Amino acid sequence: MFEKFFTQDISKNTPKKTFKIVLVETKSDLKNVLSEEEVAFLKAQGFKATVGELSYLSCEKIIFCLKKDDTLSSFAILSSKLPAGIYELDLPKEGFKWDDTLLGWALGHYGFEKYKTMPLKKEPRILKIAKTTDCSYAKALFEAICLVRDLINTPANEMMPKDLKKVCEGFTKTYCASLEVLEGKELLKANYPLIYAVGKASCEEPLLLDLRWSSKKPCLSLCLVGKGVCFDSGGLDIKPSSGMLTMKKDMGGAAHVLGLAHAIMSLNLPVKLRVLIPAVENAISGSAMRPLDVYSSRSKKTVEIGNTDAEGRLILADALFEGACEKPDWLINFATLTGAARVALGPNIPVIFSNKSEEITSLLRLSLEENDPLWQLPLYEGYKDSLKSSVADLSSTGSSSYGGAITAALFLQEFVPKGQPWIHVDLMAWNLKSRPGFPEGGEAMGLRSFLLWIQSLLKKRSKAPRSSQI
Ligand code: BES
Ligand code: ZN
Ligand code: ZN
Repeated sequence: MFEKFFTQDISKNTPKKTFKIVLVETKSDLKNVLSEEEVAFLKAQGFKATVGELSYLSCEKIIFCLKKDDTLSSFAILSSKLPAGIYELDLPKEGFKWDDTLLGWALGHYGFEKYKTMPLKKEPRILKIAKTTDCSYAKALFEAICLVRDLINTPANEMMPKDLKKVCEGFTKTYCASLEVLEGKELLKANYPLIYAVGKASCEEPLLLDLRWSSKKPCLSLCLVGKGVCFDSGGLDIKPSSGMLTMKKDMGGAAHVLGLAHAIMSLNLPVKLRVLIPAVENAISGSAMRPLDVYSSRSKKTVEIGNTDAEGRLILADALFEGACEKPDWLINFATLTGAARVALGPNIPVIFSNKSEEITSLLRLSLEENDPLWQLPLYEGYKDSLKSSVADLSSTGSSSYGGAITAALFLQEFVPKGQPWIHVDLMAWNLKSRPGFPEGGEAMGLRSFLLWIQSLLKKRSKAPRSSQI
């Protein structure tokens, strides 16, 4: 798929004409890269050199105005605007992120048309690249992002726990990963009471997907946990129709960990990886959990159900407790956990929490540099009181209606043993509006930042003395 947007051998495609694309950042750049006549021609056409503006200088030369510090979006806009053809870039000499160029160009082609009987899909816009270009990083990310988007966009009737299982089975074949699956009542026998409690009302069996993979010589162990609520009706505390409308995306956390796993495995990073996905439907039936029911958990702490719509934290509690058992270097969960996180930071900025704040400053910095932002909120102990229950060890929702993203994170922290480095990502996983290259619907958020951060951890470790590695 990725390959069809690029050519390293122009002679293969010679019957087609090649267009040259000249890139500028500002109006004042025009005179440096174009002739006087060309500048005059553009002026007459009303070319303003605003970001994303494109104009034809002749039948084989195009001018495009990009934002250099957002290369990825710029190239997604560019390739989505162009007609089919072969294109060559006249690149600025410095400060160019080539991986983002490739990734953006490829993403400009994305559309979810699986259910269109007459797809609009345009022919690919092919970019000429040097023979020496290493595309592996951009390809891995492109595939990861498309996987995340496709999984989220697929409607719930075709994206149930068993469908997430199929994705994991695909990984076992492609990457020699291993998969263990617990299904339905097996979850009770194996002591995952909260996952079972959330999933038991559905006709679709709840699952715990446990995928493992390792490179030959790992120097970092990661456990990724993803919220896999394939549809969130709210349960007996049913959501209003407006709130339920996008709840096919409530498996967005699972989609993110599968995307990240795909990237790690396809790049063969020196990682020992475990992916845990509690996959359920939060449905309504006679066997649904009720408000104020009490359940035990894998950690043995008892939980009183404050609201059946706060189901994500329950399934994650059991999965996180299991994930911490093997003491990975990092335990990281992704979840579309709270509406409150969206109220706090809006739809495009995932909230992250960590019990190792100092160690994630580089992740936060990187995320801003990469235009894939993450923002930290505190695990503020002072709010712990609100998780008190008069009958159980903990209430799932607590008493306060304020600070919902923080109280949800504090609830999860109750199931992460002290000393286990942990990051919790509360994200939207959905674009409310379309932008070129970033269509409305499922979206990978923070994925690029995490992959870069993981690579930076690996770099540090490869320099560390042997004894501090696994
Ligand atoms: N899946 C939702 C959270 C959500 C809603 C994420 C909208 C992104 C966009 C979650 O299961 C939920 O319903 N949470 C409740 C918790 C509340 C009942 C304590 C919420 O946030 O309202
Ligand atoms: Zn819910
Ligand atoms: Zn949910």
